[in-house]
Amino acid sequence: MYLDNELYVANADGTKLSITGKMANRHGLIAGATGTGKTVTLQVLAETFCQAGVPCFMADMKGDLSGISKAGKLSGFIEKRKDGFGIPDPQFAPCPVRFFDVFEEQGEGIKTTISTMGPQLLSRLMGLNDTQSGVLAIAFKIAEDEGLELITVEDLSALLNYIGKNAKDYTTKYGNVTSASVGAIQRALLAIESEGAEHFFGQPAFDVNDFIRTKDGKGIMNVLAADKLMLKPKLYSTFLLWLLTELYQTLPEVGDQDLPKLIFFFDEAHMLFEDTSKQLSDKIEQIVRLIRSKGVGVYFITQSPTDIPDDILGQLGNRVQHALRAFTPKDQKAVRSAADTFRANPNFKTDEAIMNLETGEALVSFLDPKGAPSVVERAKILFPLSQIGAITPEERASFMAEYKKANNEKIAMNKGAAAVLAERTSMSDKAAADASAEKERLAAEKQAEKERIAAEKEAARQQKEAEKQAKAEAKEKEKSRKETMKTINTVTKALGLPSLLRSVIKSFIKK
Ligand SMILES: Nc1ncnc2c1ncn2[C@@H]1O[C@H](COP(=O)(O)OP(=O)(O)OP(=O)(O)O)[C@@H](O)[C@H]1O
Ligand SMILES: [Mg+2]
Repeated sequence: MYLDNELYVANADGTKLSITGKMANRHGLIAGATGTGKTVTLQVLAETFCQAGVPCFMADMKGDLSGISKAGKLSGFIEKRKDGFGIPDPQFAPCPVRFFDVFEEQGEGIKTTISTMGPQLLSRLMGLNDTQSGVLAIAFKIAEDEGLELITVEDLSALLNYIGKNAKDYTTKYGNVTSASVGAIQRALLAIESEGAEHFFGQPAFDVNDFIRTKDGKGIMNVLAADKLMLKPKLYSTFLLWLLTELYQTLPEVGDQDLPKLIFFFDEAHMLFEDTSKQLSDKIEQIVRLIRSKGVGVYFITQSPTDIPDDILGQLGNRVQHALRAFTPKDQKAVRSAADTFRANPNFKTDEAIMNLETGEALVSFLDPKGAPSVVERAKILFPLSQIGAITPEERASFMAEYKKANNEKIAMNKGAAAVLAERTSMSDKAAADASAEKERLAAEKQAEKERIAAEKEAARQQKEAEKQAKAEAKEKEKSRKETMKTINTVTKALGLPSLLRSVIKSFIKK
């Protein structure tokens, strides 16, 4: 509860325990066994920030956080504990809420593009080995160099196909792209698609700055429905990690402020560190360390502090430790490690207290204005002023209807790699078709020329033949004429005709 400019969240025997506003971006941890009050503590912290005008983002694992959108009421449990908090007349009120849902069933969608997510997070999501990750990184580089936008899973798949087909052209410039690796990535892509990743990759791409909004002086609570998402731990944790990375990359440096700009609650945080490469784990550590200068506080929620790597745990300054059970030696070790992270209080033994805490009770230590952790206190966590537990499906449906009414406009979409590559392929198909038509045309031309020359030759041959024939005929005619003349000469001579008459007869016959 934001009271007298204090972020008041717990009470230790009449002493109000508040988070120091200036130190709220030095991150936090809410830990404890199931049913000990972690979600309600998250809700109390979130609505306190909300009242102070600080927006929050939280993943709602079981749907019960949706109650933050409705005013709470006095329950028996709250009634019993209320007096200890020094709030005689609590004003139950809802927080302004925006519901999100990757699957777009229980809230607005949050989408990003494959390009924005980048090869490193995608490799983790797909569970690729080092060689395959290397090939994926090459694919991203090729897309960048060729101006191809990777928006959807389909875009990446089309790009991989294209690279696989043209591997020879790319290997010299970018490095070895084997068809085995391309095939393995394609299969991994299919697997995450069947897990529902295609809902998450697309347009319009979500702008994380949208989380940072207020309404009537209150910070907006951005609640992500994660009940379905958390069944795919890799998808869930990679998605949240992407959100954090985006916040880190897009928000400006703000330095230390009286209040943070955004609080990011990371529930089931242990999922983030399972199956995570050393490289990625280092990246998470770095983001957590640096994001506070952007005014963002990250609060991890998990069962035991031992779920979180030491170098990250060391950065979580504001701590609420609910009860831990210690049935096995391993549990007892976890209790001791949890106790060791606190500055001891001479009035009680930290490890014993951790095992004896009641529901809604916790060991609490917040950073003081100088950034030093306070001595641990055994405290009762405040009750929320919003509703404990989920809203009804009808109430959620009315939120959805309001959102849909306000978001009816059409959004311009960019063209992704799949479409561009399909065009490129169809263009090269067309070019191939054009080339083969030209070849046919040239062949036909050549054939026609051949035939023309053959015909010309034949005509010449026939003419020559005709001429030869004519010549032979003329020769024959002359020969027979000469023979006739010779005969006439002989006959007329023999008849003794005078030479004048013989000449007349000869010239007559000649004619
Ligand atoms: N601070 C509190 N004020 C009032 N009621 C509380 C408080 N903390 C816990 N409760 C009660 O205890 C119940 C269990 O708490 P909560 O759901 O927060 O546990 P949890 O640790 O999140 O459990 P799980 O691990 O199963 O999610 C709540 O439904 C609520 O009735
Ligand atoms: Mg819970």
